[in-house]
Amino acid sequence: MAEGIPVTRIEIPASRIAAIREAVRTTTHLGAGAEASRLARAEDAPAFFTFLSDPAVHAPIYSLPRPLTEANVLAFIEDHMAQREAGEGLLFVRDNGEGRILGYSDIQVWPHWAAGELGGALHPSQHRQGRGTRGAAESFTWMFEALHLDLICETASHENIATQRMLDGLGFARKGEVESTRSDGTTRASLVWEITRDDWFRLHPA
Ligand SMILES: CC(C)(COP(=O)(O)OP(=O)(O)OC[C@H]1O[C@@H](n2cnc3c(N)ncnc32)[C@H](O)[C@@H]1OP(=O)(O)O)[C@@H](O)C(=O)NCCC(=O)NCCS
Repeated sequence: MAEGIPVTRIEIPASRIAAIREAVRTTTHLGAGAEASRLARAEDAPAFFTFLSDPAVHAPIYSLPRPLTEANVLAFIEDHMAQREAGEGLLFVRDNGEGRILGYSDIQVWPHWAAGELGGALHPSQHRQGRGTRGAAESFTWMFEALHLDLICETASHENIATQRMLDGLGFARKGEVESTRSDGTTRASLVWEITRDDWFRLHPA
């Protein structure tokens, strides 16, 4: 949980709020083709737990279950199924076709502000090859288009240089700092970035 985000909060009409919730509820994939991620399901819990267990994956991410156990990962997946039904959240995984998870994306949506946040990770074997930046850019375009959002708000810890470089490089604007609360009640400082739909498509034309 991160209090204080998004920083920019513009109320939108009820008809748009309903359209955003409906888009979240009916989504099954993030992206297209072989690179697409699918919704996480209960059966993914063992492989997802294995993927998350590497500190290079879980340490920077405040929103993951703590303590990190397979049962808590299952509860995390089930909570996101409920978030999807409410039109407020989505959890996607990408696997190698043989049950090994290669990455995940966790999308939080604030329908009444037409705003969203993307979190996630890649398997460490995939780090530092530009994949994170490419995948995040495609996901941000998808969030604006498929979920009808006006704003994306992102956070990263002071130590998370890769995410900081990625967000600065993609043209997000720095918006200060908030305190993020992990599921075990501990807190950490998070830097905040935002970008509007207009700025995103000006900087990243289709
Ligand atoms: C964040 C993450 C998805 C980035 O993916 P990636 O494919 O490794 O990143 P990229 O190769 O696209 O690199 C992005 C930028 O960070 C830099 N970078 C990557 N890893 C770095 C590291 N360990 N230390 C310093 N800089 C790093 C790259 O040089 C690049 O900067 P540049 O464009 O200015 O040259 C990946 O590191 C990851 O899964 N981390 C664990 C979870 C996490 O931190 N999630 C984000 C918070 S929700």
